[in-house]
Amino acid sequence: MRVLFTSTNEKSFARWRDQLSALDSRIQLVNLADNPDLDSIEIVLAWQPPEGIFPQLNNLKLIQSLGMGVDHLFKCPDLPKDIPISRIIDPDMTEQMCEYALYGTLKAFRKFHLYQRQQRDQIWEPLSRNFHDQFSIGILGFGELGSAITERLYKNGFTNLHVWSRSKKRTKMALSYAGSNEFNAFLNELQVLICLLPLTPETTGILNHDTLSKLAPDAFLINPARGEHLIENDLLELLDSGQLSGALLDVFDEEPLPQTHPFWQHPDIEITPHIAASTNPRTAAEQVLQNIHQIMENKAPLNLIDAVKGY
Ligand code: NDP
Ligand code: OXD
Repeated sequence: MRVLFTSTNEKSFARWRDQLSALDSRIQLVNLADNPDLDSIEIVLAWQPPEGIFPQLNNLKLIQSLGMGVDHLFKCPDLPKDIPISRIIDPDMTEQMCEYALYGTLKAFRKFHLYQRQQRDQIWEPLSRNFHDQFSIGILGFGELGSAITERLYKNGFTNLHVWSRSKKRTKMALSYAGSNEFNAFLNELQVLICLLPLTPETTGILNHDTLSKLAPDAFLINPARGEHLIENDLLELLDSGQLSGALLDVFDEEPLPQTHPFWQHPDIEITPHIAASTNPRTAAEQVLQNIHQIMENKAPLNLIDAVKGY
């Protein structure tokens, strides 16, 4: 079976090709530079596919996202509407994301970001401490990642947890809020806000002046979801006015973050280059292979997304 690979991360092509063929020698992963017969392609592995590829694939049966998110596919203007889309759901990525969220939370909880600020000004001054059961943390999204992070934080002793999703959840670890009616109640006085929403028309710009102003004074923002969730100028304003005390950001409106972007130099913003949870062929290839087998055997693919909801 010949499978097409298209990604803005061309460097990962050889790793995917070698990993898949090591698992099943019948799988031949090709990219456009190989000049393949496009009529032989039934599956595409894609990350940010360029316009123009999909209309050439007359026998396509599955679009497999090379990430957990699928917003990059919906940005492609000629994405076919009738082809199923699967995404990666990899415990290794979930673990990476839990570590990322825990790191940011501990930073805010132990006030390490404030001590960094004090260090810059050569100030030696212990600050008042937080207590786990009083420290309120909100998680936007209670899907694969949001629910795993909630569990990790809970196991780390944080019991004042609040989660927000489209549908109400039954969990003993957190208070569940659902939908726009309960959004303000969810945000109210949170000390840490972690965004794990998918990017859709409803969630674009959800981290803005109005919503972030509802958090506790000195709140800390963690955004490893998508850059377009955040109105970047609103964050700068809220940090500079002291309404927020800091932010840990992994994703941005424009990536790579332009050299002239004010976030680079901001003392209260910590930046990582979209690595909160990286897809790795070593751990994700098995499930991609399984989906290839599903298609070969005319069976339904796994980890399908709902194209109407957009996630
Ligand atoms: P899921 O699809 O598993 O979960 C999404 C959650 O968001 C669900 O709980 C859903 O609610 C909720 N949700 C969606 N739309 C709304 C809305 N309009 N209002 C309220 N809640 C909403 O996503 P994952 O947990 O797998 O991933 C989340 C995102 O993380 C990805 O889409 C991706 O953008 C990002 N990501 C970033 C990575 C990085 O390295 N920076 C790596 C991997 C992912 P409900 O349960 O009711 O449907
Ligand atoms: C993903 C990502 O969605 O890496 O997997 O952002």
